[in-house]
Amino acid sequence: MRISSKMKKALNDQVAMESAASNSYLAMASWCQITGYHGAAKYFFAQSSEERDHMLKIVQYLNDIGANAVIPAVKAPVASYKSLEGVIKTALKNEQSVTKAIHKIVELSHKEKDHCSYAFLEWFVNEQVQEESKFEDILQKFDLLGRDKLAVNEIDKFLASTAGADESAAA
Ligand code: FEO
Repeated sequence: MRISSKMKKALNDQVAMESAASNSYLAMASWCQITGYHGAAKYFFAQSSEERDHMLKIVQYLNDIGANAVIPAVKAPVASYKSLEGVIKTALKNEQSVTKAIHKIVELSHKEKDHCSYAFLEWFVNEQVQEESKFEDILQKFDLLGRDKLAVNEIDKFLASTAGADESAAA
């Protein structure tokens, strides 16, 4: 094995975190769909598959270097929200936790002079900058447009137009 057992654990914990994020966004998509926010539902269904792709990237890396990925158990995510703004706030919080976790693993790779993992993690560092800014921008729209039904409907339409934009950019 080319990475330490500490790094193996950290990366497997990250597999679990990305899997939980995927699940959480799936629950948000479902709530949005049931509530009638069809643009936001489309957005979060796409976001959920993005997170699954993140998880798969780490699984692939671990297996490629002979460190054996561990597929985590699935925990039930929060299933109901008070508002669309509440959904976006929770999403931003999730992303901030993921960023912290990624930065910790990067620090570990530095400490252990693990250049392979360091190079692998670079993509995630950049991705997190985009992920946080994406949700910050959406939250800002509530301040700019307001929170009445018409404003939220506009935000829902905006989310429909931007759903899956990251995936198409990466393709
Ligand atoms: Fe894969 Fe949005 O963190």
